[in-house]
Order: sequence, then C-alpha cells, then structure tokens
Amino acid sequence: MGLGKFLHSHVEHADAGGTIERARAYDIVGIVAFAGQRGRVFRRLAALSGARPGDRVLDVGCGTGALTRMLATRVSTTGTATGLDPSEPMIEYARHRAPENCGYVVGEAQDLPFDDQSFAVIASSYAIHHIPAAARQAAFTEMFRVLRPGGRLLIADFRPPTNPIGAHLIGMVSGPAMAHNPIDKLAGLITGAGFHVTAEGDQWPLLHYLQATRPTLPAALH
Ligand SMILES: C[S@@+](CC[C@H](N)C(=O)[O-])C[C@H]1O[C@@H](n2cnc3c(N)ncnc32)[C@H](O)[C@@H]1O
Repeated sequence: MGLGKFLHSHVEHADAGGTIERARAYDIVGIVAFAGQRGRVFRRLAALSGARPGDRVLDVGCGTGALTRMLATRVSTTGTATGLDPSEPMIEYARHRAPENCGYVVGEAQDLPFDDQSFAVIASSYAIHHIPAAARQAAFTEMFRVLRPGGRLLIADFRPPTNPIGAHLIGMVSGPAMAHNPIDKLAGLITGAGFHVTAEGDQWPLLHYLQATRPTLPAALH
C-alpha cells in the first residue's frame, strides 16, 4: 500500500487525491517531508496571501491547519482565520491546535457554507489536486462568490517534478493525482471563475502558486 492510500484511507477519487482521514500521520509525514522547514514555507505562503491585520480569511482544504494558523497570526486578534476541509478527523485535529481567532468548518470547496462576499482573503495549499477534477471549476466559482470584490486569492499546489524518474517515484509513493497534477490548468480555472491572476511562481519544495484578485467591477464593465 502506497503512502497516499494509507493517508487517504477510503475516500479517494480516480482523478484526485480525495479526502485525507489520518490527520496525525499526515502531520508527521509533513514534518518529515519539509525537512523541518514547514513553518517557514507556510509563513511565506501566508505572506503571499496578502492577509493583513483585521482581515477575515479562509483556508480551503486546510487539513491539519498549518496554513490556517499562520494566517491567524497575520490577521492578528482583530481578524479571523477559518479553515475548511471535508475530513472530520482533519478538522477535529486542527481544532485542538487552534488559537483564539481561528475556527474550523467541515465542508467542500465546491459547496462553500459561507455567505457571499464574506472573506477578504482566500488561501489554499496542496489541496486543489484533492478536489475531484470535475468539481474544480465549481470550487473556484464558489471561492469567487464568498470573496469580497477587491479581495485576494492565493492558490499553492504541488508541482510534480519534471524529470520522469522523480514523477514516477512520487506516483509510487503518493498516487497519480499528485504525480500528474495539472498545475498548468490552474490559471484557466481561476480566470474562468472571474478572478484576475496577478502573479505566478514556484517555491521550495515542489510548490507552484498563483495570486489573484476578485475585480471590484463586474467583468462586463471593464
Ligand atoms: C494534502 S492535504 C493539504 C492540507 C493543508 N492545506 C496543508 O497544506 O497541509 C489536502 C486536503 O484537501 C482536502 N480535500 C479533499 N477534498 C476536498 C474538497 N472537495 N474540498 C476541500 N478540501 C478537500 C483533504 O481532506 C486534505 O485535508
């Protein structure tokens, strides 16, 4: 059994990583995989999100909440960070480590349980390839709906190694959704939902990110 199958338990899709059920094991694997640099990587992602003190921010596919907690620090006690994940064990685990201004909700990216325009910033790390491929456009449409005009989006996802041996090894350990993650499709999905992509880049380790904004005017008026 590969590591991916072990972590995901039973809720895996053919074209996506699916829901991760083993929260503690995921956290331990994360600490090892980041070679002790996980805090630094998520702090950098929180900075790239553009979250500021007082903001209300959402972390989509939050898992054990490593990024949510960094976002909570950035928005300070005058703001709030909310993590969302369909996995109850992940949410339960994250809740036990939450600072005061950090909350967690069970739910799916493609059906966000939040009011229109209720967040200033939305961020997501290593989660888009876990959403069923057919639901990814709906997920970005939902993010657009719950982000306020002028709000900022940061999407960071796993960038498969370009060399075939590296990709093969990732496939053996974690499964095809990670080894063949189509990160080149992210920009189209994001703009397809109505966002304006402002920047794109790579970050250690094997991470690709896009920054976008929800325009303040409806597309027809641009
Ligand atoms: C690889 S983990 C990333 C967790 C965390 N963001 C991090 O960077 O450590 C991917 C997460 O996406 C979640 N997920 C799966 N399907 C999802 C969906 N439809 N909507 C939102 N999250 C989903 C999984 O349960 C899992 O916790």
